[in-house]
Amino acid sequence: MPFRSMIADKIAPLVGMEANAVVSLMEIPPDPAMGDYALPCFAFAKTMRKNPMMIAQSIAEAPQADCVTGVEAVKGYVNFTVDKQLYAKTVLNAVQAQGDKYGAEDVGHGRTVCIDYSSINIAKPFHIGHLSSTAIGHALYNLYNFMGYRSVGINHLGDWGTQFGKLLAAYELWGNGMDIEQAGVEGMLKLYVKFHAEAEADDSLNDLGRQWFRRIEDNDPEAMDLFVRFKDTTIKEVMHVYDMLGITFDSYAGESFYNDKMEPVIEELREKGLLTESNGAQVVDLEPYGMPPCLVLKSDGATLYATRDMAAAFYRKHTYDFAKCLYVVAYQQNLHFRQWFKTVELMGHDWAADLEHVAFGMVSLADGGTLSTRKGNVVRLEDVLLSAVERARMILDEKSPNIENKDEVARKVGIGAVVFGVLYNARIKDIAFSYDRVLSFEGETAPYVQYTYARTNSLLQKAADVMNETPDFSALENEFAFAVLRSIARFPETLKAAMEKNEPYLIARNVVELAQAYNRFYYEVRILDDDKAASAARVGLSAAANTVLHTGLTLLGVAAPERM
Ligand code: ARG
Repeated sequence: MPFRSMIADKIAPLVGMEANAVVSLMEIPPDPAMGDYALPCFAFAKTMRKNPMMIAQSIAEAPQADCVTGVEAVKGYVNFTVDKQLYAKTVLNAVQAQGDKYGAEDVGHGRTVCIDYSSINIAKPFHIGHLSSTAIGHALYNLYNFMGYRSVGINHLGDWGTQFGKLLAAYELWGNGMDIEQAGVEGMLKLYVKFHAEAEADDSLNDLGRQWFRRIEDNDPEAMDLFVRFKDTTIKEVMHVYDMLGITFDSYAGESFYNDKMEPVIEELREKGLLTESNGAQVVDLEPYGMPPCLVLKSDGATLYATRDMAAAFYRKHTYDFAKCLYVVAYQQNLHFRQWFKTVELMGHDWAADLEHVAFGMVSLADGGTLSTRKGNVVRLEDVLLSAVERARMILDEKSPNIENKDEVARKVGIGAVVFGVLYNARIKDIAFSYDRVLSFEGETAPYVQYTYARTNSLLQKAADVMNETPDFSALENEFAFAVLRSIARFPETLKAAMEKNEPYLIARNVVELAQAYNRFYYEVRILDDDKAASAARVGLSAAANTVLHTGLTLLGVAAPERM
């Protein structure tokens, strides 16, 4: 932010603050007519013992940095206008110099952030309910890496619980040596559904389920062999979806991984006097914090979801020494995370403060026409992705019948549309997913941004000869070019804010805003004309837009086809 620093250097001594502190107070006015930067003076009132209006007035009258061409005090704010050509030159040079690292800042200094995301359940379909966790987690994974952290992506598999005893019981009763791989998760689901239906009438089935679960707990070879086959088959199926999404994980250590790692945690809780008995169960009383107790051990000695999550947190702390550990999990699990985070804090571990539940809202389907993708009662994510690809293909047939690699482009557009669709809103909002909306080439969507990116590629190819001219930045002194510049200039702050708040939607919005501004510029301003120096400046602006659109999409986990 060189302009802010230049401006702030002059202001700092006037208000008795460090220049950095002044920089962090500065804002970009919502209406560019008000100026390029604004400094609210309310924070100075107390120490300077003057009212904000008078402070703003006195700042506006003082000598300013060289880049400032206009300054005005308005209602307790100082608005600064900077030299337009210098602004254009500075922004474009920064993008050119930093290339695909533009916007990156080493905030992390190589520290580690663990990101627990997607975290699917064994023997259950990878359904649309896991889309947000997967997309948000992947975007954060990319973003933290970009900002100097080392991301560790963890798929905390749901691979433990009495339901697996029932599944094995059902397999024994009705599986008749079915080929588990062949039957896949769908077959497992059928067994499971049948088990529940039959157990309604015949309670002895539940005993059988418990027996099988006991055998898993006891590491009985036959039970384990079956269970591992169910698990491997599920993982193989989800891998296919992760491949489509371009996601890999650093660890698949799930719930069962912690079977032998809970004892020390329980022991520590006991030693620290945090366990109390409640109806035979061992719990941590959280009454003073306005929460129900955190269940650690059931009366039969069985451990719980929270017990495993605590063991996992200790394991991650020891293994990765994280600076932060994020849990990208639906808001329905709010209480669960608050309870065990509090428990770790009560155990006296200060790193409890580094655990964060990155919650998100629900995804439902808006289009009625999607019912055909339903198998049973769930909407499989793979079906949604494939269906989006198919629709993207149809749109491309119409809009760009002659592009090369149409299948490849359709894949990137279709899958990108779905991912972008859940990243475009603040996490906590519930989303009604609609194919038509996410695939619209005119909306605030991946295809719109991808199309704009492809447009800049075509232009840059056509304009190769002016790229070496010395640009005449006065050619960018118009509102259309400036809207593009502002959007590009804002990108680094956007990334920082997105990381601080764990909100990828901020990136998605910046990228859409940039695409919109660029398209307006493209239609309103002739980019290539006889004036080579002016053309070079406009092409330079297009090149910078190209870079930022590409970086933005990539960080969000959305592919950017070169041509569309
Ligand atoms: N498998 C769980 C579910 O689908 C999510 C697990 C989230 N991660 C965690 N460490 N609890 O609801």
